Amino acid sequence: MPHRAPGSPRKSREQYLSGKPIRYYRPRGSAEVRQLIDDGFQAFNAARIGEACHIFGDKMLLPEHNTTIGLTVAGALTPAGLGGCIVELMERGLVDFVISTGANLYHDLHYALNFTLHRGSPFVDDVELYEEGVIRIYDVLFPAQVLLETDTYVRDFLVRWGVNGPVSTAELHYALGRDLMEQHPGCEQYSVVAAAAAAGVPIYTSSPGDSSIGMNIAYHELMNDSRLMIDPNKDVNEVCAFILAGEKNGCVILGGGSPKNFYLQGQPTLWEVYGIPKGGNDYFIQLTTDSVVWGGLSGATPAEAVSWGKVNPGVLPDTVVAYCDSTIAFPLFCEYAVGSEHNRRPRKELVHKRVELVEALKREAMSAKREHPAPAEAADTMPDLERHR
Ligand SMILES: NC(=O)c1ccc[n+]([C@@H]2O[C@H](COP(=O)([O-])OP(=O)(O)OC[C@H]3O[C@@H](n4cnc5c(N)ncnc54)[C@H](O)[C@@H]3O)[C@@H](O)[C@H]2O)c1
Repeated sequence: MPHRAPGSPRKSREQYLSGKPIRYYRPRGSAEVRQLIDDGFQAFNAARIGEACHIFGDKMLLPEHNTTIGLTVAGALTPAGLGGCIVELMERGLVDFVISTGANLYHDLHYALNFTLHRGSPFVDDVELYEEGVIRIYDVLFPAQVLLETDTYVRDFLVRWGVNGPVSTAELHYALGRDLMEQHPGCEQYSVVAAAAAAGVPIYTSSPGDSSIGMNIAYHELMNDSRLMIDPNKDVNEVCAFILAGEKNGCVILGGGSPKNFYLQGQPTLWEVYGIPKGGNDYFIQLTTDSVVWGGLSGATPAEAVSWGKVNPGVLPDTVVAYCDSTIAFPLFCEYAVGSEHNRRPRKELVHKRVELVEALKREAMSAKREHPAPAEAADTMPDLERHR
């Protein structure tokens, strides 16, 4: 089978990469978008986006609720230019910590390093792209050289950083963000990883080996004899400690995947493992294309999460799933949030409080253990989820 229709001209690398550069879009709080959502989005998933905007703007952002807000990011969002929405939320203190796939963080580095990703078409000849050295993420196209040079930067950073020993992914990403700002001043305006470091927002990755960042850390161990080790236990305890410390807790979940569970498992880690019944999440917003009927976690509803003690049964009205492409729904959601009354909050700067909050978690877990020495042998009912509310 020829991989190109007979007679159709071969496209050059330059032609493939001639599309407009993808830039990070920064929401500005458009009144027109707010009007569209309030007056035009009246039913089905459009109405669910409206609900999500109101749960976020009218409840999660209320100063008196002081909600600790986690954002989880899966799907190819930074390649599609949505990093600017995340930067805007972090800068304004509207998101306190982030859990992302490694891919989104790795592809964010291209923007920080001033490489260009291009708008393109999904209907292209992939063998030809391969021969021309062009990488494709659906309709996003960029030269393979971008991968190689981004990898070189990551490896050089790891050498400069010089840390040996176990670190959480938040420590890794914070150091990476600081390094980006040193090497490329001003890049915190257009890089999620750099902006997070500037705003004190910790970023976690639920599967650190599953991206080119993880691949280059593996290189660093094998080729440089580094003892740098990503310690997932630190990540689990740090996220759990943030949730324990939260007066109220809420999440915005983009896509599904392991970041979604990594956030939601914080509540079961507290009650099931540490014997601290925090009470379940207070707010739950998910924008996803994942469907519930396949039984996977990615599409699981907030109601299902109640059975695990992940979501408080009393707050189901403050939960919503909008089934839509998050590359459409998330910029709308962010426009609404930026245009809302409480569009700026004092930043919690959790990246600097990780150690003290984990110590607080340990103190509370020790005291729970003294009170109930063998939680596993206790009655087979759920704990009193109201205890800590
Ligand atoms: N170089 C790297 O480090 C690396 C590693 C893995 C993936 N990638 C690339 O990055 C891209 C993103 O991969 P990923 O691991 O972040 O997640 P993913 O694309 O595997 O998506 C994970 C979850 O998000 C949902 N989702 C995906 N797109 C969505 C959308 N538009 N709207 C709503 N929900 C959506 C999926 O249904 C799933 O639940 C991949 O397409 C791949 O090309 C790169």
